[in-house]
Amino acid sequence: MSAKTVLAINGSPRRKANTAELLQHALRGAADAGAATEMIHLYTLNFKGCTSCFVCKRKDKEHGVCAMKDDLSPVLERVKQVDAVIFGAPIYFMNLSSGMLACLERLFFSNYLYSREIPTVFPKILPSAYIYTMNATEEQARQFQLSERLHFLEMAAGQFFGMPPRTLWAYDTYQFKDYSQYESSIFSETAKAAWRKEQWPRQCAEAYSLGSALVGGQG
Ligand SMILES: Cc1cc2nc3c(=O)[nH]c(=O)nc-3n(C[C@H](O)[C@H](O)[C@H](O)COP(=O)(O)O)c2cc1C
Repeated sequence: MSAKTVLAINGSPRRKANTAELLQHALRGAADAGAATEMIHLYTLNFKGCTSCFVCKRKDKEHGVCAMKDDLSPVLERVKQVDAVIFGAPIYFMNLSSGMLACLERLFFSNYLYSREIPTVFPKILPSAYIYTMNATEEQARQFQLSERLHFLEMAAGQFFGMPPRTLWAYDTYQFKDYSQYESSIFSETAKAAWRKEQWPRQCAEAYSLGSALVGGQG
């Protein structure tokens, strides 16, 4: 039997920062559980969000296929082929980064029909996960009702992939290597450093377990 494949999609423009790092840990967990792994950095691709052409809804066209043709097209096809997918996104203005939103618009909308009977045309049940990284502390995220804001996209993944996604929340991330070089007086670098020292290894371990669980048939 061939190995399962886990695909990570990095929705941060930074290829070596917090989101990418957690995705790497998740992929390492998946690899140690026997999977082949792949990472796509969305911001290296040239693509747009959904242009509302509605070709994917036409009765005379193939469903589940986005008619737009650009660098995202092979990514949308690859999601159908793999055995699990992990979406990693930094939080921008209390939502997913625009690159990740544009990707999800295309992926989810093309697999959705305005049909009472058919909840999804995605070809299989696909374990999935969201990894969110943000400056906000857990308390600030609660205050701004971030969980409620992201709930719809989590529901969408549940509906289109046939099972609810896992989620991992990384709060209070370290944004700069050297805070003294940037105007950043709203943050305490000392508090950030202390948080990172205590929490980051735990979050990396959580990401590792998430990757491993996605392969182990635990969704
Ligand atoms: C344009 C922009 C908007 C941001 N907006 C928010 C925000 O609304 N809430 C928040 O908690 N962090 C916000 N951040 C911080 C990032 O979410 C955080 O630093 C994240 O961990 C960055 O991921 P990366 O290190 O993988 O690039 C913002 C960062 C940028 C660049």
